[in-house]
Amino acid sequence: MRKFDIVVTGDCNLDLIFNQFDRLPEYGEEIIANQFELALGSSAGIVAAHMASLGAKVAYVGAIGNDNFGNQFKAFIQSYGVCTDYMVEKTGFKTGCTVVMSKDEDRANLTHAGAMAELRPADLPWQLIEETPFFHMSNPYVLPHFRNSLPDMYKKLKEANTVTSLDPQWDVEETWNTNLKALFPFLDYFLPNEKEFELLLTGNNITTKDLSTISSTTIIKTCGSTGIEMLQSNKSKQYNSYLNDQPVDCIGAGDAFTAGFLTAAIEGEILDDAIDMGCKAGALSTTTAGGKVPYSSRQDFADSFNKLF
Ligand SMILES: Nc1ncnc2c1ncn2[C@@H]1O[C@H](COP(=O)(O)OP(=O)(O)O)[C@@H](O)[C@H]1O
Ligand SMILES: [Mg+2]
Repeated sequence: MRKFDIVVTGDCNLDLIFNQFDRLPEYGEEIIANQFELALGSSAGIVAAHMASLGAKVAYVGAIGNDNFGNQFKAFIQSYGVCTDYMVEKTGFKTGCTVVMSKDEDRANLTHAGAMAELRPADLPWQLIEETPFFHMSNPYVLPHFRNSLPDMYKKLKEANTVTSLDPQWDVEETWNTNLKALFPFLDYFLPNEKEFELLLTGNNITTKDLSTISSTTIIKTCGSTGIEMLQSNKSKQYNSYLNDQPVDCIGAGDAFTAGFLTAAIEGEILDDAIDMGCKAGALSTTTAGGKVPYSSRQDFADSFNKLF
């Protein structure tokens, strides 16, 4: 029996989330926030946590420092059943951390990338990856050693017959110049949100139609509460979300979607059903704060969904 269903890698940080305060502090001031939470952060970490909760066997790879926050990050994802044996420690760097100042629908984020930005292709457990059917990466733009080598890495994965997915997330340098034409021939599922996809097309100076001529990558574009647009060769199909018109917040909805989608794909579901499972996980994630996983098992996922939607 195979050890894992998927290797998930990418960003790796804790979130320090401040809520319930009147306004952001100016320099020289102190403002009280009446609510605070230390939470699992990072898109890749949250995908891994959701997938393990849904029953997938997940190995997560990310870089932490040799510090308490690193231990806390590990403890968080282990508590969901994610394997952390392949995580790497970067001496001399601190575990990544984001201070999230959250007010209504808006958030001001301040991140120290630290150790997570030190992750390198050579740190990935290549032998394990070759023995594992799926690979997912999230947020390569906070990983300087990956941002220009994505086509090479995905080529290597394709050669190992791995099913691959990538969620680009926001390009923190805002160059949006990932070479999609070089990458797509080796990528199975591309999972950007609407805005990220538009910026990447502009950055590559191409249209959706151009993309359909270069590869058969399945593009699953998430469009917030509206749902999904799926693009495959010259086909396009819309899927409605299970609308939550009073979301607690939409933090992590994209990661929950990815987790639901990939878990169903691993289980051999057809594309429509995998997208449907993603939409259910995305919708459920809007019923709790931050990137928290609002279900403890597959049964709990089904029960919570049936109760709330
Ligand atoms: N208000 C909502 N109600 C129900 N589902 C939602 C809502 N917001 C997001 N989702 C689900 O989560 C998915 C991802 O959300 P989106 O905001 O596009 O991603 P990201 O978090 O990456 O920006 C959506 O395609 C949808 O299925
Ligand atoms: Mg996203």
